[in-house]
Amino acid sequence: MNILAISGSLREASTNTALLRALADAAPEGMEITLCEKIGQLPIFSPDLEDPLRPPIVAEFAAQIAAAEGLIIACPEYVHALPGGFKNAIDWLVSGSEIIAKPIFLAQATSRGKDVLADLQRVLGTVSERFYPAPMLCVPLLSKTPEDIAKHVQDPQIRAEIDLFLDAVCRAVMAQEVD
Ligand SMILES: Cc1cc2nc3c(=O)[nH]c(=O)nc-3n(C[C@H](O)[C@H](O)[C@H](O)COP(=O)(O)O)c2cc1C
Repeated sequence: MNILAISGSLREASTNTALLRALADAAPEGMEITLCEKIGQLPIFSPDLEDPLRPPIVAEFAAQIAAAEGLIIACPEYVHALPGGFKNAIDWLVSGSEIIAKPIFLAQATSRGKDVLADLQRVLGTVSERFYPAPMLCVPLLSKTPEDIAKHVQDPQIRAEIDLFLDAVCRAVMAQEVD
């Protein structure tokens, strides 16, 4: 099972990206989690640049979404809302078909950020018929370094939460296949 993980933070030492990397490391047999590295390379969305003028990097991003059986998104809150870069990536997908039936799950690297959570639920629930607000994984990692995080997620209780979350993702994606 091929899952694409998308971080809403482009920060080198992002806690959200580090959480997604930890999920990739913890993926059970049969599940592969790949980190999407493209959203920082996307140009600013304009309907004038859609097909047939769609930039190649946008086509590559859309193809990555299409090829994934599910998405896991971890996104920080910027100014009580979605970060512009992440919203820009979603805007590029709106007129295509890649995200409509895609199972989407959330992971959060902080227990703060209620506004971005509401934004994520509204926006992702609009673009996908298979957005799952629950289960959501929340591992508070604010101000930890990627190295600290790699150790922190080995804590048995956190590891158990990660395993439960990934198991739920797996079952939800497979339920889609049966439908
Ligand atoms: C431009 C900017 C705006 C932010 N605005 C908020 C905010 O409105 N509410 C909040 O709780 N945190 C805010 N933060 C803090 C980030 O959400 C927080 O540091 C987050 O964990 C960063 O994620 P990352 O480690 O993945 O980059 C802001 C950070 C930045 C850089």
